[in-house]
Amino acid sequence: MRQPPHVCSACGASSPRWTGRCATCGEWNTLVESRPERVAVPTVDASVPIPLAEVLAADAPATPTGIGELDRVLAGGFVPSSVTLLGGEPGIGKSTLVLQALAGVAASGRRALLVAAEESAAQVRQRAERLGPLPSELWLVAEHRLPAIEEVVRALRPAVVAVDSIQTVFEPERNGSPGSLVQVREAGGRLVRLAKADGPVVLLVGHVTKDGAIAGPRVLEHLVDTVLSFEGERHHALRLLRALKHRFGPTGELGLFSMDPDGLAPVGDPSSLLLTDRRRGIPGSVVVAAMEGRRPLLVEVQALVSEPVSGPPRRSAQGLDAGRLALILAVLARRVGVELARADIFVSAVGGVRVQEPAADLSLALALASAAAGVALPEDVVAFGEVGLGGEVRQVAQTDRRLAEVARLGFRRAVLPASAPPAPAGIEELRVRGVAEAIDALGLWREQGAGRVTSGGLRALASLGNG
Ligand code: TYD
Ligand code: MG
Repeated sequence: MRQPPHVCSACGASSPRWTGRCATCGEWNTLVESRPERVAVPTVDASVPIPLAEVLAADAPATPTGIGELDRVLAGGFVPSSVTLLGGEPGIGKSTLVLQALAGVAASGRRALLVAAEESAAQVRQRAERLGPLPSELWLVAEHRLPAIEEVVRALRPAVVAVDSIQTVFEPERNGSPGSLVQVREAGGRLVRLAKADGPVVLLVGHVTKDGAIAGPRVLEHLVDTVLSFEGERHHALRLLRALKHRFGPTGELGLFSMDPDGLAPVGDPSSLLLTDRRRGIPGSVVVAAMEGRRPLLVEVQALVSEPVSGPPRRSAQGLDAGRLALILAVLARRVGVELARADIFVSAVGGVRVQEPAADLSLALALASAAAGVALPEDVVAFGEVGLGGEVRQVAQTDRRLAEVARLGFRRAVLPASAPPAPAGIEELRVRGVAEAIDALGLWREQGAGRVTSGGLRALASLGNG
């Protein structure tokens, strides 16, 4: 007898027949018969086409949340009936940001509702205590059943509703546990429909793990209007908010917060914050003028080169791209003659930021060379530029913005690609065509007391540490 098709209630994969274990996710006893949903065929009532030029542009006025850094990323605020997904790792501060945004909305007299689907009302209240006075239009319901959430929203008619988190919302009529693909899709779809039916602004919170292992909220990305990503290192205060997708504005803006004891505070001068704890005179430290969207950010790049303790040499890149590190090491070996193949190598972007753009290449190469030679660069030096496979240094975008930030923070020397536009007055330029040339500059700008190190001298020094 022919079996009806089945679908896994845990991961949503379909299977032509029933089996005890899902072949896709490996869960036991999760396959259920998939009954095609009966879709009522609408009597066709076609829309009337008009020339595009005659279509009135919808002037969807964004309403600010009052949280400046959030409004900046949203290009003004929440657009009515829009749906935003806020993703981030557990513990990064999503619930705090959402609560502050809702409080901001409520403070302007508009009703805001928080649906706490994973925390109790008392827990939310406890968090809220730290954040300041609570406006009277800030409402709360501790509920995770989807139909109940819909009912509350219809009854309360808030201007903004936030659901924290989408992974804990549950439709009892559906198979699968909360957080399963089936449930996340159902909840996401239904809440989007709620917003689009002239409903509230909807804000969905979703947990994302570092390696993106849990597909959970990712399946919602195409459904929603805006996808925000909240990032940072849990052990550092700095938090970065960026729009990965935004139907109502550009995605280049960056919001910067610091996680303080009394909530998230805007960070006006991130470069200063990132460089506060910098120590002078340590080999392997170079500051890069990076860009985060349209904001320049000065970040310290550190490298440590040491003899391997045992086994194969270790390579660790924190906040920097591991692929770029491998490339820079190969360029140093083949184009400069600095062979570090047998050393343990650790590099990091300090402060919990991620600098993944190729503009960090040159600073990475200089930090590695400085670490290998044990020679520190002067602390007022900044470097940026992309390194090519030939060992050449290439120009990167927005040089003027980067250099303006360099000047603002009092750095006085910049290692730049030869083709870069001129630096502002007060900055001594060192234009380089290749990595070897830049390393020679490392010797040129030696710290007091250190010997002059050229790429040739560096080769000798590095090979000493290489046994
Ligand atoms: P939370 O918003 O609960 O993170 P998420 O919802 O992304 O899991 O906050 C995470 C951490 O932030 C928590 O460990 C405590 C800390 N925190 C502060 O440092 N200051 C504050 O004012 C608040 C509310 C939280
Ligand atoms: Mg949370």
